[in-house]
Amino acid sequence: MNRLQLLATLLWILCRQGLHGSPTDGLTVPHDRIPLVIPQSTKPLDRPRFLAEPILDLTTHCDEECVKREAGLSPQDFQEYLSYETVYANGSRTLTTVGLQGVSSSNATAGAWSRKRTRRHVRHKRHIYGTDGRFSITGKRFLLDFPFSTTVKISTGCTGILVSERHVLTAAHCVHDGKEYVKGARRIKVGFLVPHNSRNLTQPDRLVMRWARVKRTQVPKGWIRGPSDLSMDYDYSLLELRKPHDHPFMKLTVAPPVEDMAGKRIHFSGFDSDRPGELVYRFCGVEDESAHLIYQHCDARPGASGSGIYGKVWDSGKKRWERKVIGIFSGHQWLEVDGEQQDYNVAVRFTAMKYAQVCYWINGNYKHCQNE
Ligand SMILES: *[C@@H]1O[C@H](CO)[C@@H](O)[C@H](O)[C@H]1NC(C)=O
Ligand SMILES: *[C@@H]1O[C@H](CO)[C@@H](O)[C@H](O)[C@H]1NC(C)=O
Ligand SMILES: *[C@@H]1O[C@H](CO)[C@@H](O)[C@H](O)[C@H]1NC(C)=O
Repeated sequence: MNRLQLLATLLWILCRQGLHGSPTDGLTVPHDRIPLVIPQSTKPLDRPRFLAEPILDLTTHCDEECVKREAGLSPQDFQEYLSYETVYANGSRTLTTVGLQGVSSSNATAGAWSRKRTRRHVRHKRHIYGTDGRFSITGKRFLLDFPFSTTVKISTGCTGILVSERHVLTAAHCVHDGKEYVKGARRIKVGFLVPHNSRNLTQPDRLVMRWARVKRTQVPKGWIRGPSDLSMDYDYSLLELRKPHDHPFMKLTVAPPVEDMAGKRIHFSGFDSDRPGELVYRFCGVEDESAHLIYQHCDARPGASGSGIYGKVWDSGKKRWERKVIGIFSGHQWLEVDGEQQDYNVAVRFTAMKYAQVCYWINGNYKHCQNE
């Protein structure tokens, strides 16, 4: 495909996404179901050493035991996992414990395991499924405009998404390997694509990366408790910029089931490592979902870790479909079902509890996080 065809295809996709009917029934997560995540105590911890090597290609494994363990988690477990560490630019670190309100039973986690028994015997790990379905976005008009302009680069080698004037969501493994903060996490920076400010008329369309400093980084304990088959459920981290940016951002929401999203598709764009300097966009259907993870075969390469997964979600207040962030692209998982291993690319879903936690990180008042 030449560039023009690519652009035409892209436009076609973008237009098609606009054509949906209204949802058929009460689709969005009822607002009264969002629990309260209440900070309880904050205590100082030792300064991290920032010695771990960044994980560029996270791979996990989950078998039926792991599925069972996840289904059996209690509110106490969630309370533990939703507690979090905060690391400041001066290298100091705190641990904040949280309490939960509005989480009634262990069934808080029970999400449908709608496993489709596809008869594929894939035994080797793949990043690209069939024909590479990724689009490199070119041209200022797209790159500097919503939704692509919400994509930012993370200096540790990942991607992130702007979710407020000051906040960027990325994957936890981009700053912490499960045991230790990674090299580069202390002076982590966020890269924005901006027009190149020069009078060189031979390159009027050139964009450059402008790096912004981060004031603090927050990581849930669910990730920090060490690499385990369930820690991928908490592979997200929030970065707060020192100064507000002036780019459009995309709001976060509780992930609805994929059936309730326009086109039953997810989308994300990132800085895939095999296409240096390019913003790479892709979309795909969802193959499987658990309460915490979205299993899909969207083509992706390691640099795309931390990309914001978004979909068009029905906004019942505004009575229209809106693109909202529903998850974070994590990595790769072998899922063992009935003795058969399947490989998937995996995104973390923002459950109501995770939404409540990140919402509190963003706006600092947990009482304002009961509505989306
Ligand atoms: C580091 O910064 C944080 C937040 O600004 C502050 O609360 C803390 O006291 C500072 N620690 C040191 C050792 O300066
Ligand atoms: C939790 O789920 C199990 C199995 O689906 C069900 O039998 C049980 O009644 C549920 N408990 C509550 C409190 O909803
Ligand atoms: C403008 O950019 C082109 C291509 O990179 C370069 O060859 C040329 O020297 C530049 N001109 C000036 C005046 O900087």
